[in-house]
Amino acid sequence: MAYAAFRPALFTLDPERAHKLALDAARLYGYLPGRPLGSSAVNLMGLRFPNRLGLAAGFDKNAEAVDGLGKLGFGFIEVGTVTPRPQPGQSRPRLFRLPKSGALINRLGFPNHGAKAVARRLSRRRYSGIVGVNIGKNADTPIDGAVDDYILCLRAVCETADYIAVNVSSPNTASLRDLHQPERLEPLLTALLNERDAISREFRRHIPVALKISPDLDFDLLKEIASIALRISLDGIIATNTTVHRDRSMSADAGSRGGGLSGAPLYQLSLKTVATLRRLLGPAFPIIGVGGVDSPGKASAMRSAGADLVQIFTGMVYRGPALVAECVRALRGTNVVAE
Ligand SMILES: Cc1cc2nc3c(=O)[nH]c(=O)nc-3n(C[C@H](O)[C@H](O)[C@H](O)COP(=O)(O)O)c2cc1C
Repeated sequence: MAYAAFRPALFTLDPERAHKLALDAARLYGYLPGRPLGSSAVNLMGLRFPNRLGLAAGFDKNAEAVDGLGKLGFGFIEVGTVTPRPQPGQSRPRLFRLPKSGALINRLGFPNHGAKAVARRLSRRRYSGIVGVNIGKNADTPIDGAVDDYILCLRAVCETADYIAVNVSSPNTASLRDLHQPERLEPLLTALLNERDAISREFRRHIPVALKISPDLDFDLLKEIASIALRISLDGIIATNTTVHRDRSMSADAGSRGGGLSGAPLYQLSLKTVATLRRLLGPAFPIIGVGGVDSPGKASAMRSAGADLVQIFTGMVYRGPALVAECVRALRGTNVVAE
């Protein structure tokens, strides 16, 4: 109720400025005494998640407010996307609200402080939930050199990350989505898993590696990705990132802008991707569902479609922090419905 009263004022601000304010508030909230995370723990990818709800990548790109965001009740937080070198991202304006659609369009292009700075910040966290670090490549790294960027990120963050999310699916870095193609994807993931195995031996700690995919893949490509994931023993798949598709009904609502669309119009696409992946990957493979979840009912439906864990982002912008506790409650004790 408090957020609903506050939202109109927040929405008069430029979306990126409003987001920075929200992050600053969350950072300060991190210094207040908090409640312990609820006990509805689940084991997945070799990790123990305090509950099934996570904050999706991009909300706290530089791990500046992990303690405060954690206190809202998230069982896990994915920071990033980080790149090996810091970079400013695309020129502004680059984030747009579509209030009639409950959606956002962003073409941020990975503005971030760089993997090493984010790792240093994470090493000081007090949040007791799981923290994933989402990694990508610098904008000026050619796609043929992408593997090196991902490896550099992995090395920089491996000591402070509980899991790694390999982002090949943001639409705002030129050619990044080409990395979904099997001839590029398999060598990338194999190199990362080999490097991860060496690091895990050194630290005596398993660091799961999950792949974050686009919602805009056709069935044949999804099938190939699923078979690669099973063949190389990938730890998980995160489905999905934002879409480049537009619904005709959104044209009056700034929907024609370029960039990745998130929020309510993405929901069916993400849900369908999760359901298809669950069929392709079998009952045991870890899947994290994300895209358009803005109510406890949609969180439960994402889980029923086959997601072990669920993440939110745009729903928080429209519904506020109360959505966290509502979704955590809805996901407590849920079971995947067999298809
Ligand atoms: C402003 C904004 C920035 C984002 N940045 C990233 C990012 O850096 N890396 C990433 O993997 N996903 C990023 N995403 C995608 C989200 O993590 C999520 O996959 C997507 O928004 C769908 O979830 P939602 O509908 O709940 O927002 C971003 C989304 C938004 C809205």
